Amino acid sequence: MRAPRLLPKWNIMKRPILIHPDPRLKKFCADVPDISDELRVLADDMLETMYAAPGIGLAAPQVGVLQRLIVLDCVKGEDAKPRPLVMFNPRVMASSDEMNVYEEGCLSIPDQYADVERPEAVKVEWLDRDGNMRDEEFDGLWATCVQHEIDHLDGKLFIDYLKPLRRQMITRKMVKLKKELAREKA
Ligand code: NI
Repeated sequence: MRAPRLLPKWNIMKRPILIHPDPRLKKFCADVPDISDELRVLADDMLETMYAAPGIGLAAPQVGVLQRLIVLDCVKGEDAKPRPLVMFNPRVMASSDEMNVYEEGCLSIPDQYADVERPEAVKVEWLDRDGNMRDEEFDGLWATCVQHEIDHLDGKLFIDYLKPLRRQMITRKMVKLKKELAREKA
C-alpha cells in the first residue's frame, strides 16, 4: 500500500515497481516452498523499495515475482521505531464482523486513492524470514494494509472493489501515465 499523499521517488527504487495495468499484477501467486537466501534478499530489497517509495506495504508480484511474499510496516511518525514485517505464505485465519473504511492507495497505481471497506481486524498466519510459523491479530491500518497486500498475491487490486466506471477511469489514467513514463525513458 502507498503512504498517503506523497510523490513517488522512482529513481531510488531498488526493484522497479510494476504499474497497473500489467498482466503480472492479475496472477495468482504460488506458495513459497522453502525460504532460500535468494528469497531473503528479495524480501530485503522489497523493504528497501517500499520505504523509498514511500509505502507501508509491498507484495512480490509488484516487483514481478509471482510468489507469496509480502512486506509491510505501518508504524506512523518520523520518530517512531520502524517495525518491518516479512511474511511468506501469509493467510487470513479469521476476520472480524466489524468493518472499517479506509482511503487506500497502491504503489502500482500511483496518486489514485479510494475508500475500500474491509474487516476491521484480521488474524494472520505466516512464515517469517527464518521459516518460523507466526501469527498475529492486526487491526486499524495494519489490518487494512495486510489484507490489501495479501489480495495482491491473488491478483486482486484495491480498484477491484470499486464500481466498474471508477475502475475504468483509473485504469485509463494509468495507461496514460505508463505512456508518459515510457517516453521519459526513451
Ligand atoms: Ni498495493
